[in-house]
Amino acid sequence: MKLDNPLTGTMVSLDEWWMPFTANRQFKAAPRLLAKADGMHYWTPDGRQILDGTAGLWCVNAGHNRKPIVEAVQKQAATMDFAPPFQVGHPLAFEAATAVANVAPAGMRHVFFVNSGSEAADTALKMALAYHRARGEPSRRIIIGRERGYHGVNIGGTMAGGIPGNRKVWPAMMAGVDHIRSTHDLARNAFSRGQPAHGAEFADELDRLIAFHDASNIAAVIVEPMGGSAGVLIPPQGYLEKLAASCRKHGILLIFDEVITGFGRLGAPFAADYFGITPDILTCAKAINNAAVPLGAVLASDAVHDAIVNGAPEGAIEFLHGYTYSGHPLACAAVVATQKLYAQEKLFDRARDLAPFWEQALHSLKDARHVIDVRNLGLVGGIELEPRAGAPARRGLEAHVRCFESGALVRFTGDILAMSPPLVIEKPQIEQLVETIRESLKKID
Ligand SMILES: Cc1ncc(COP(=O)(O)O)c(C=O)c1O
Repeated sequence: MKLDNPLTGTMVSLDEWWMPFTANRQFKAAPRLLAKADGMHYWTPDGRQILDGTAGLWCVNAGHNRKPIVEAVQKQAATMDFAPPFQVGHPLAFEAATAVANVAPAGMRHVFFVNSGSEAADTALKMALAYHRARGEPSRRIIIGRERGYHGVNIGGTMAGGIPGNRKVWPAMMAGVDHIRSTHDLARNAFSRGQPAHGAEFADELDRLIAFHDASNIAAVIVEPMGGSAGVLIPPQGYLEKLAASCRKHGILLIFDEVITGFGRLGAPFAADYFGITPDILTCAKAINNAAVPLGAVLASDAVHDAIVNGAPEGAIEFLHGYTYSGHPLACAAVVATQKLYAQEKLFDRARDLAPFWEQALHSLKDARHVIDVRNLGLVGGIELEPRAGAPARRGLEAHVRCFESGALVRFTGDILAMSPPLVIEKPQIEQLVETIRESLKKID
């Protein structure tokens, strides 16, 4: 299929790009294209304005095309396009690491740059194994994840994640991992505002797995403090505290995957701050530089960093890991400019202050057609729809398409709609988003 690109006047073929996480045949039959962005909006190639209810993909927290970030990237591209990160360095990468460390949870000032959330997850898992080996406990190899957990698409994250489709297609990758159950409990927690009241006891499953495998074989527990990609799964009250306590008691590292929650999404710098729980290793990406250039990072505690780095012989590479593009100059320029912008505009506080209005607006959808749950935390919202009999996920897709046609971008995972707007969203735009969803739901079967 070909379509006209009004921006360039050329015909564009849709055949060659095999799109990620997309129903390619369905998409190419009826493409939804974005051509321009600014602030809270996208524009389609034919000039239709779309309110961005998802900050791109949970990542453009300061809004689109912010001038200081654009200018910083442009300037860096013209100054030094690339510098190798192995055995030589460039000042901007150090400056970017310091900027991230300055907002990181206390005691997590060691920043390892990668290029995506998936790479951050795999790096974190390798770091956990390296830590135990450095401390003389190489038998600690098992990774515990959680059902419905999402840690990206590389091998470690695919294994540790709890997405059933992955387990079906790539079962051979699933060695050396085990999983605790998901915290999702609609029967008891539907329409909870903020953290649901029921389900702290789901964390007891970790104790069962520790007894089963023995702590001496377990390296780390990796969870998203708030599950995003598998459908906005908010941790029950007391749940994360229990997980953290079991990890501490048994010498197991706790890894928080904050690829979605990092940099203000919950109204605090990190979910670790929001929940008052500091992990040993933390992964982040996306909003770290407002998604201007691909970049992720792994933050390590002093204990993890020091065991690996100080434990190696003098002159040896302590951690045999890294990417050609770790600390890419353009990405780092965007980090420094983004972190400055977040601080200047106090965007994390803004998210915190807007959260009650956001919650109220979202929960007004309780009586909307097809809705069986509304959940929220910080500036995240999830709307669960009743699946259509015999066609799960169809209603979610149709709701997404209807909203897009009506001028709003919302994400869907199965029959769950997920919202995570830029932190600069205004109250009337929140109302517009909610009304677009309400009207769109009326129109689908
Ligand atoms: C919690 C979490 N971890 C990892 C990833 C993977 O990030 P990326 O798509 O940048 O590889 C995502 C992506 O949404 C995520 O939500």
